[in-house]
Amino acid sequence: MIKLQTSLIWPGCAQGKYSVKAKGFILAILRWGNENVPLTDWGPFAYVPIDPAGNGLFSFSGMRGIPREATQVWARCYAADFSFYKDVSVDIPEKFLNTTEIIAASHRFSVLTDMHLASKPWKIKHALKATESDIVFLLGDSTNDGLTGQFAQFLECIEDAVPEKTVLSVPGNHDITHPRFMGKEIDGIVGYSVFHRILLEKATQMGRVFSYDPGSLAWALQIDDLDLIGLQCVVSGRKFQFPESNQIDWLEQHLSSTPASWHIILCHAPLLAHNPNRNIGAPYLDKNKRIQDIVDRYERIIFLSGHTHVSPNVMSGNGEYDKERQNIYLDCGSVVATDTSGEHGLMSRDWKDGVKTELIVSKDAVEICMSSIDSGMKFPRGYYRFILSTGGAG
Ligand SMILES: [Fe+2]
Repeated sequence: MIKLQTSLIWPGCAQGKYSVKAKGFILAILRWGNENVPLTDWGPFAYVPIDPAGNGLFSFSGMRGIPREATQVWARCYAADFSFYKDVSVDIPEKFLNTTEIIAASHRFSVLTDMHLASKPWKIKHALKATESDIVFLLGDSTNDGLTGQFAQFLECIEDAVPEKTVLSVPGNHDITHPRFMGKEIDGIVGYSVFHRILLEKATQMGRVFSYDPGSLAWALQIDDLDLIGLQCVVSGRKFQFPESNQIDWLEQHLSSTPASWHIILCHAPLLAHNPNRNIGAPYLDKNKRIQDIVDRYERIIFLSGHTHVSPNVMSGNGEYDKERQNIYLDCGSVVATDTSGEHGLMSRDWKDGVKTELIVSKDAVEICMSSIDSGMKFPRGYYRFILSTGGAG
């Protein structure tokens, strides 16, 4: 007799305990499912060892959401000698089901980051083709070396894979030519600047209207009641500095003068307090404190970053919600293989795959779904839903 029990905390939120009783078994694989089968387009969310007494326990932390299609939790339990398995499922109690319909007036964005194009454009085309939304954000390190030829190749990938889409970009440190390649006297951001201009010109031709910080490559774009902002957080020499302009003053002025249901900020590196590595070392951004202070003074900011390559499948997760200010922080992993260091025990093969992120934003709800670019499987550990009307996540 095997048994599965859940002890959840908030409606729609996966946080809580999942306990398996399965004497004679050694491993349970947990997945979301319906009353008939596990959901086939969602991968497992835990591999739970079962002790000799037959007990296994998984504590799900990190404020992940329960998919809307899920009505049950499924466990596939493997016998101690792996000679057979048994499936067991349990209802998700009705009050914990995710019943939020993201309303028709929502906006959708796809996010890719850290593609590091060196010489394999097929990988970039594959990632671009995997995006589901009409607007694609590139959060930097689109190229590995910042070379003009790599940016030309990247533009060809866009034209080939998603010619009809609006692609909006911010620079990463790898988008700047390393000084040893070009000589210190040469501005290593020339290649990126051309790429940036071509993308924004194309978006302008498609009817988008931008405003700019005159002293940097920062831009802003309004789409209905959403305010999109792209920051330039790196300069020549691959330094995480903002250009010698007043970009941060521009950001503050822009936030204070632009009413919006959400401000979505694109910045290559995360703020220190929201770095998914959870390290307490030096911040990436040289104006980290000032930017955090600004973000903390405004509400309804979605701060999107990359750079870390951290897999959404590490237990601590890549998404955070500041309930008090209704601000969301999301580090979007990488298109190149993600980093799962720090994660212990068994894990799915695709947990290290490159990821894409789909972001659905409506006035009072934000849904984030990260999935493997290679397999297309959705990652339960990369799924978040933040509902403002209930005052919190889940
Ligand atoms: Fe980077």
